[in-house]
Amino acid sequence: MAKSVPGIVVFVALMLTSFVLTAIHNLSPIENARAENEASAYSDTSKPAPIVIGHRGASGYVPEHTLAAYSIAILQGADFIEPDLVMTKDGELVARHDNVLDLTTDVARRPEFGARKTTKIVDGVSITGWFSEDFTLREIKQLRAIERIPEVRPANARFDGQFEIPTLQEVIDLVKSMQRAQKRRIGIYPETKHPTYFDGLGLSMEAPLLHILHSNGYKGPRARVFIQSFETANLKELRQRTSLPLVQLFGSATSKPYDVEAAGGDLTYAKMATRAGLTEIASYAGGVGPEKSYVIPRDANGKLELRNQTSFVADAHAAGLMVHPYTFRAENSFLPLNLQNGSEPNVFGDAQAEIRLFLEAGIDGFFTDHSNIGVAARDAFLVRP
Ligand SMILES: *[C@@H]1O[C@H](CO)[C@@H](O)[C@H](O)[C@H]1NC(C)=O
Ligand SMILES: *[C@@H]1O[C@H](CO)[C@@H](O)[C@H](O)[C@H]1NC(C)=O
Repeated sequence: MAKSVPGIVVFVALMLTSFVLTAIHNLSPIENARAENEASAYSDTSKPAPIVIGHRGASGYVPEHTLAAYSIAILQGADFIEPDLVMTKDGELVARHDNVLDLTTDVARRPEFGARKTTKIVDGVSITGWFSEDFTLREIKQLRAIERIPEVRPANARFDGQFEIPTLQEVIDLVKSMQRAQKRRIGIYPETKHPTYFDGLGLSMEAPLLHILHSNGYKGPRARVFIQSFETANLKELRQRTSLPLVQLFGSATSKPYDVEAAGGDLTYAKMATRAGLTEIASYAGGVGPEKSYVIPRDANGKLELRNQTSFVADAHAAGLMVHPYTFRAENSFLPLNLQNGSEPNVFGDAQAEIRLFLEAGIDGFFTDHSNIGVAARDAFLVRP
């Protein structure tokens, strides 16, 4: 008996290692050895390195917003992991991209919750489904995550039903333990989802979010955290209540932040992207998170070229703002035409080349579903800028 215990431990360790290596190696086109060499060269430089943000965790490889997804992103070298946050009925913050639970959990397959299905207006859009604000944390803990886009990422769906929905505190606990194991600081980049909507339900997110961050030691402008939002009013409110770094996200140019929309305002994201708009943002935020096309739009043929770079990065930098565009994804279907690899939509194309162009455009970090590819692209750029 005494001898079989280490055997089991070794077996489990090998399983975990092979799982991680499979995720890192088989599923990506990077040359690991080269990336490692370049990473060590990078550690010698004193330049501030652009940050790699694990978008929803390693969401290219496992169902998003799970502790498995965040862990793999960290093991792949992400500098930050990005939990999106929604509220439960009992006021807890949990990691989901949407308050609509059927998009990323198995709630629709659970007869005990069948009666919770309903129709609501969320940010002006009518949606039928199951909503986080109608479930207590205890109930949400009975659900399991499923892959959001199984048609694009069929391999991820093999994990459907395996992972819980984590709370923000559990995400922080994971980061703290992995910081010790990895001997490096790992940031968190939480996004408040639908803050105006949750205000309307009496479930405001700002106070619980700040309470959890501050009580876990995230304090001051140098804390390894960025709080992000597509809305403006909640960021301005947060600025009054914390000195933690804040990031203004940008949606499509013609649309407005939902708080502006709800208040009958006329501020579009296009106006916010002007020099005057960026200067105004700098009064309450330290960075901006634009959709990629604000930085380099694709041409009419779907090609991406550096000569088409806009003045967005220069204007944001002149206003004192960092620029972290979203979202870099490796599958052909998300890549510009000139960087695709054949015509199969789910095959990986040259995502490193896309990231490289944006690094050359001067960005300070970026959101990616494939942190391993992002780290390889970033490290190669630091060696040969
Ligand atoms: C292109 O796709 C093929 C599979 O169809 C793959 O073997 C190859 O590694 C891909 N090339 C790159 C640069 O990702
Ligand atoms: C990209 O740049 C080329 C050359 O300056 C120009 O002809 C083309 O219209 C630009 N496309 C976009 C989408 O800006």
